[in-house]
Amino acid sequence: MAAVTGSIEGGPGRFPVDASTSVRAAQRWWDADADTYQHDHESLLGAARWLWGPEGWDDDDLDLLRVQAGSRVLELGCGAAAGARGLRARGVRALGLDLSMRMLQHSQRLDDKTGTVVPVVQGHAGQLPFRSDTFDLVATAYGALPFVADADCVLAEVERVLAPGGRAVLGVSHPFRWAFADDPGEGGLTVIRPYFDRTPYAEADDRGEVTYVEHHRTVGDWVDLMVGAGLVVDRLVEPAWKPGNRSTWGGWSPLRGALMPGTLILAAHKPAECTPG
Ligand SMILES: C[S@@+](CC[C@H](N)C(=O)[O-])C[C@H]1O[C@@H](n2cnc3c(N)ncnc32)[C@H](O)[C@@H]1O
Repeated sequence: MAAVTGSIEGGPGRFPVDASTSVRAAQRWWDADADTYQHDHESLLGAARWLWGPEGWDDDDLDLLRVQAGSRVLELGCGAAAGARGLRARGVRALGLDLSMRMLQHSQRLDDKTGTVVPVVQGHAGQLPFRSDTFDLVATAYGALPFVADADCVLAEVERVLAPGGRAVLGVSHPFRWAFADDPGEGGLTVIRPYFDRTPYAEADDRGEVTYVEHHRTVGDWVDLMVGAGLVVDRLVEPAWKPGNRSTWGGWSPLRGALMPGTLILAAHKPAECTPG
């Protein structure tokens, strides 16, 4: 199979992108794309619902968050914070963090619409503006992690802000998708590039400025990253396509969803402190 490569100038391809360029590109991209993203996906995302991905399952179905009223929760890369809002409506002390101010403006719009206000913070997941041991749960559905070059730094921050015994439940694009074209139809069923090639997918403008980047890690890489951050991995969840979900979202579709996983959710916890015996 031919390796897929690309040029830095003018268009999409495969080329290395460092950590600070990745954050800059993500902020610009999501600020510019937030309106389109919400317009296209809000009907499925909802305003106060934790949706795990295009498969169509929310957390009432999968029961992965397992929080109670009063639990302290951080939604990482929260976008319009529908997930955190659904939790707040149940008395959970959830708040959201996102790099994109425009995304957070959508969160405020949904606060007004629903009457449930989510406190949100603009920030980078690799430099969380919170004290250590603050949260019982840090969770995300597709937020931040796919867009950073240094997922190890983000996971170190997740571990730091979790209280001992706290949990991390992190949903990302399923790494298998990397090997296939991002096509919801038949064209997305053939392996076209090596799963093992970690060179990011990136787009650049005519001046060579990176405008979009997604970084790839294999399933094994994700487990190594979580363990390397000091977290104990409890589960890897690969939700099947929800029966009756006819919607298409980018490369996710009922056709492909019936054949391969589209979302990977990693559930882990921070070890509780030992009491010297
Ligand atoms: C695919 S959207 C997911 C949003 C939301 N979780 C949802 O399910 O609709 C990815 C989000 O991650 C945010 N993001 C990207 N890089 C980030 C970073 N380094 N730190 C914090 N948020 C980031 C983007 O601004 C965007 O809102």
